[in-house]
Amino acid sequence: MDDLKAKYLGQIAEAADEAAIEAIRLAAVGKKGEVALKMRELGKMTPEERQTAGPALNELKDEINSALAAKKAALADAALDERLRSEWLDVTLPARNRRQGTLHPISQAREELTAIFAEMGFSVAEGPRIDTDWYNFDALNIPGHHPARAEMDTFYMHRAEGDNRPPHVLRTHTSPVQIRSMEKMGAPLRVICPGGVYRADYDQTHTPMFHQVEGLALDRDISMANLKWTLEEFVKAFFEVDDVELRFRASHFPFTEPSAEVDIRCSWEGGQLKIGEGDDWLEILGSGMVHPKVIAAGGIDPDVYQGFAFGIGIDRLAMLKYGIPDLRAFFDSDLRWLRHYGFAALDMPNLHGGLSR
Ligand code: PHE
Repeated sequence: MDDLKAKYLGQIAEAADEAAIEAIRLAAVGKKGEVALKMRELGKMTPEERQTAGPALNELKDEINSALAAKKAALADAALDERLRSEWLDVTLPARNRRQGTLHPISQAREELTAIFAEMGFSVAEGPRIDTDWYNFDALNIPGHHPARAEMDTFYMHRAEGDNRPPHVLRTHTSPVQIRSMEKMGAPLRVICPGGVYRADYDQTHTPMFHQVEGLALDRDISMANLKWTLEEFVKAFFEVDDVELRFRASHFPFTEPSAEVDIRCSWEGGQLKIGEGDDWLEILGSGMVHPKVIAAGGIDPDVYQGFAFGIGIDRLAMLKYGIPDLRAFFDSDLRWLRHYGFAALDMPNLHGGLSR
């Protein structure tokens, strides 16, 4: 028995890991281990022999078990010490220099144009991007059969069979906010409504989601001349120049009469987009005198109030101002591009401080 004890205690002292401990346990005190075999031999002994051998074997078993437990605990302690040593952190090191986020050029353009219109006395209104087809079309004098509905490449929200709620669309323009603003605020009224809009369209100057800012001014004596002045002043302030060449084209929208589209002179040479030079024109907005039916749909008396409305493409303005030739780059989420074109987040644009400095 002394031999057994010496053998196993020796092995335990040498064991290097938990697997070795377990192997020793099985060999020594497991069900088929050496000590168990010896216990089975007790039956063949004389009662006197048994009286000394039995307790001695039990004692041996206990001794081996506690040696195993002690060794196991020691190994766990050593493993923890080793981990603490290797995973050591110097919490006194200075923090890593993090780059601050920047404003996306479209957010910047939106801030800038909001500042300009705010100085002209326009307040900001917002509406939902998912809207009913009544706000997006009917109230704007675009009835169900009107070709403008098809032309707009509208995204319709799916409706389950038997769902009778009014149809919803991803708004195709910010013009529905004209109606919502009239309903909420009445006349006289001067608002701009910036926000995201959606159309199924995709190329260098079209993306399925883009941004517009709607403008609406209603009063007793507003005319087309006020519209033209407002747009010219806006464009000069936005591009931070004394003069910009604009082209007013007679056009047609169901919700304005008369209507005009406005283009800005530009060039696309060598993959570079430049404003104010060249032989190309980029359309940036639609506008006109608000149709009496639209004023009535907004709950206002068209015999008393009249006014102008416009819808400007914010993304196109940003392309022109910052020389970005492909609209799709705005939405690629390329970090290098965003760092290059991003604006300091805390510089709020205003007219006296310089819009984009
Ligand atoms: N809603 C028009 C469009 O998206 C633009 C527009 C707005 C035209 C207001 C006239 C008046 O194309």
